[in-house]
Amino acid sequence: MGSPTTNSSTENGATANQRPAAEAVAYQGEPLPNVPEDLVVPGILSLDFEERLWVPQAPDVWFRPILFNVSQGYFVNLLRVRRSGILSRHRHSGPVHATVLKGRWHYLEHDWWATEGSHAFEPPATSTPSKCQMGTPLGVEDVFSKLASAKAHYEKVGLGSDYVDQFIR
Ligand SMILES: [Fe+2]
Repeated sequence: MGSPTTNSSTENGATANQRPAAEAVAYQGEPLPNVPEDLVVPGILSLDFEERLWVPQAPDVWFRPILFNVSQGYFVNLLRVRRSGILSRHRHSGPVHATVLKGRWHYLEHDWWATEGSHAFEPPATSTPSKCQMGTPLGVEDVFSKLASAKAHYEKVGLGSDYVDQFIR
């Protein structure tokens, strides 16, 4: 957090509309109770990390965890898709935010394309048009299923299932 500015205080010799000359000092008080730790995952845009971190999701599709938010029911990850294809019909139980680092994708149901450098927002259930029957769900993917598959993968590749702990909040 940066130093606060003031437009009226004369503390530390600052005059009106000037930044005070005080050195930055970290908060000294008690931490708020029940607040999860901050989380910083470095280097995600370089994509330059070891292959074992990619968790297989489907043929030619992997995800790399960034955040498993089990207390609010969402997850953040990198998604790597290495072939062209069509996703099976699905419905989002919550909003989706997707920033495209490489490549492009779109929905048959919509006019837009999410191209490299784009950010797409999809409101809940947007993937299934009203005229399309949903059918019988074959599976559910949520923060808990993502967490379970990441645990199993990291155990299998020798990182240990508890490797995922750093991403859980
Ligand atoms: Fe979708």
